[in-house]
Amino acid sequence: MHYRHVVITHHGGPGVLQIVVDECPEPQVGEVRIRVLATGVAFTDVLVREGLYPGLPKVPFTPGYEIVGIVDQLGPEVEDLKTGQRVVALTVVGGYSEFICVPAAECVLVPDGVDSAEAVSLVLQYVTAYQLLHRIAKVQAGNRILIHGAAGGVGTALLELGHLIDLQMYGTDSATKQDLIANLGAVPIDYQQKDFRQEIRRLAPEGVDVVFDSIGGRHLLQSYQTLRSNGQLVSYGFSSALANQRGRLLKLGSSMGLLTLLKLWPDGQKAVFYSIADLKQRQPDWFQEDLKILLDLLANGSIQPIIADRLPLEDAAHAHELLDQSDVRGQLVLLCSQAAGSDSSERHSQSPSIDHRPAPG
Ligand SMILES: NC(=O)c1ccc[n+]([C@@H]2O[C@H](COP(=O)([O-])OP(=O)(O)OC[C@H]3O[C@@H](n4cnc5c(N)ncnc54)[C@H](OP(=O)(O)O)[C@@H]3O)[C@@H](O)[C@H]2O)c1
Repeated sequence: MHYRHVVITHHGGPGVLQIVVDECPEPQVGEVRIRVLATGVAFTDVLVREGLYPGLPKVPFTPGYEIVGIVDQLGPEVEDLKTGQRVVALTVVGGYSEFICVPAAECVLVPDGVDSAEAVSLVLQYVTAYQLLHRIAKVQAGNRILIHGAAGGVGTALLELGHLIDLQMYGTDSATKQDLIANLGAVPIDYQQKDFRQEIRRLAPEGVDVVFDSIGGRHLLQSYQTLRSNGQLVSYGFSSALANQRGRLLKLGSSMGLLTLLKLWPDGQKAVFYSIADLKQRQPDWFQEDLKILLDLLANGSIQPIIADRLPLEDAAHAHELLDQSDVRGQLVLLCSQAAGSDSSERHSQSPSIDHRPAPG
């Protein structure tokens, strides 16, 4: 049997993503083969495409950090899954594909009635947001948090989950996304028009309890300056490295150096770095527990991920162009197999579902 998948032919712009037809993979011992229904496309995939993500295989390879699909074939020694079950998994690479083989132990069942595109958006964006809040920062109701890139995939997930536990939230992003941040219950700050440090001094004079920074570089120092005493800087991305086409790896290295310096700074404030892949390796149980909690929140309607668009697999390069142009609100999803979305267990919600909660005064 043949299948289609997208490969990165060499590192570079969206044009390096090409559809390839190959012989379908066979599941090895302990693996299941999954017919992929949906895979997420996010900023992390841009880093993968550009060769800026650590631990990548050599090109050519298939990108795709997360999948939802139907178990199609069991490999030897698989006992806990059955063919026909709908599962979700974090793959890091390989998801932009009609079929993928994944260790059975890495799969989590998707509850009936949950939309596949919404479920797939939980794996990277929402697990990251959940772990940033609950495993790393260990926030409490009433804490003040500052989120940079608050209208992005992880940012909107942080806002939704933060709202559930009554955090006081401030979110930076560009002008056209201020309404989205306010609708998700935070005070928006236009980072291109205002100095966010001054805005935080005005809005929360004693400083914030936690700042979540996905920008990196010198931005980390500015974020640090918004903290109250004993506050915490949580760094989890270096998107500023991509903005500067020259010396990008140098910039990644200097961000980590700066973070180490801040960690050692003897002023009572804390600085930590979070990586979903590292934490999953160290604490695999946490990843599964957190994903199950999020699937339950999705199934009972407590969270409503914003799906920016659902595109066919062959539009992978177009999805990356949209991300490169910063023209995306929420999660982009590729629908991979022709039967995607036709499962009877699935509820469909084709339009972006934004919760119109009033912004705090
Ligand atoms: N450590 C981990 O495990 C982990 C997991 C997931 C994601 N990440 C990282 O987290 C970051 C965000 O991912 P994402 O998927 O949420 O990206 P995204 O959907 O592209 O969102 C990023 C948002 O940040 C805004 N932005 C850019 N520069 C900014 C600045 N200086 N100040 C405030 N906002 C700014 C962008 O809007 P404009 O361009 O319009 O300004 C965009 O709305 C990426 O660096 C990604 O690699 C890390």
